[in-house]
Amino acid sequence: MTRVFSGIKPTGAVQLGNLLGALRSWVREQHEADSFYCVVDLHALTVPQDPTELRARTLELAQVLLAVGIDPDVATLFIQSHVPEHTELAWILECTAAFGELRRMTQFKDKSEGAEFVSAGLFTYPALMAADILLYDTDRVPVGDDQRQHLELARDLAIRFNHRYGAGTDVFVVPEAAIPTVGARVMDLQHPTRKMSKSEDSPQGTILVLEDLTSVERKIKRAVTDTETEVRFDPEAKPGVSNLLSIMAAITGEEPETIATRYTRYGPLKADAAELVCELLRPIQQRYAELLADPGGTAAILAKGAEKARAVAAPTLARAREALGLVPRS
Ligand code: AMP
Ligand code: TRP
Repeated sequence: MTRVFSGIKPTGAVQLGNLLGALRSWVREQHEADSFYCVVDLHALTVPQDPTELRARTLELAQVLLAVGIDPDVATLFIQSHVPEHTELAWILECTAAFGELRRMTQFKDKSEGAEFVSAGLFTYPALMAADILLYDTDRVPVGDDQRQHLELARDLAIRFNHRYGAGTDVFVVPEAAIPTVGARVMDLQHPTRKMSKSEDSPQGTILVLEDLTSVERKIKRAVTDTETEVRFDPEAKPGVSNLLSIMAAITGEEPETIATRYTRYGPLKADAAELVCELLRPIQQRYAELLADPGGTAAILAKGAEKARAVAAPTLARAREALGLVPRS
């Protein structure tokens, strides 16, 4: 069975773009492949975090993943730092990666430029990400386009390690990226030419998965459109209207062009978009509330997930240690 691995960072609240662009496909995928989904708390540490906030965000994200439909009896859901094999393999892969290779990562360049403090972890981040993936003999990694370069590095490191130390048998499976080509790209409701993001700089343009539904409705009804009145799917000329149509299309599975034909005015379009989003979020929020009421239940699910993850990760790490010439632990 195909093995799938993906990770998501617990920084900031989960927004509609994460749900439509990534998490819903995770939920679908769990029934088609042996799926491992990881809340990558160690990746969050590459930039300074408030400890109380980090703990709360990590648990919240795990509970949102459960609430959107990740089934812990079907997929393996766990917190990265609960499986210490990740950090150990990360070190090994840091020693496999070249300094120049890491320096070329565009995400590092973007995030470090102008930053007051750049941690060494921000620089080696892609080696930890490669460890996440390679520990599980992953075949396929569903990620956004911005992660393409990191995935390419994970492949290069796997190939290099196999070549240097494999002695005829591969230690690591070389993973493939699965980058959605038609996946929903949800834009900011106030600035529809930029992606909706969990960053806090556009609260009126961002819909959070756990947001009060009255507020969700208000934001959609106040979404920026344009001064025309024609409803047409044309992301270049009409980004605001097209974004609402794309959101509706992602929820219903219809084509945005088809949806557009049913409207002659913006008011009814917005009202229907708001209703669809609220109907999507309502059951998720209900399940989230149930999970919140039973924190012990979530802790047990995450402990079981970590145990299942470890059962796969530990033998992979042992193979790598052996291939490298590290003396067996006992
Ligand atoms: P991030 O929040 O950037 O860590 O992204 C987590 C996942 O959600 C990645 O797979 C992203 O590609 C996806 N994602 C984030 N924002 C959006 C958006 N506005 N539209 C579609 N997908 C998104
Ligand atoms: N770096 C990814 C991001 O910023 C998150 C991530 C960490 C990840 N480890 C991963 C994604 C392994 C896929 C596989 O979105």
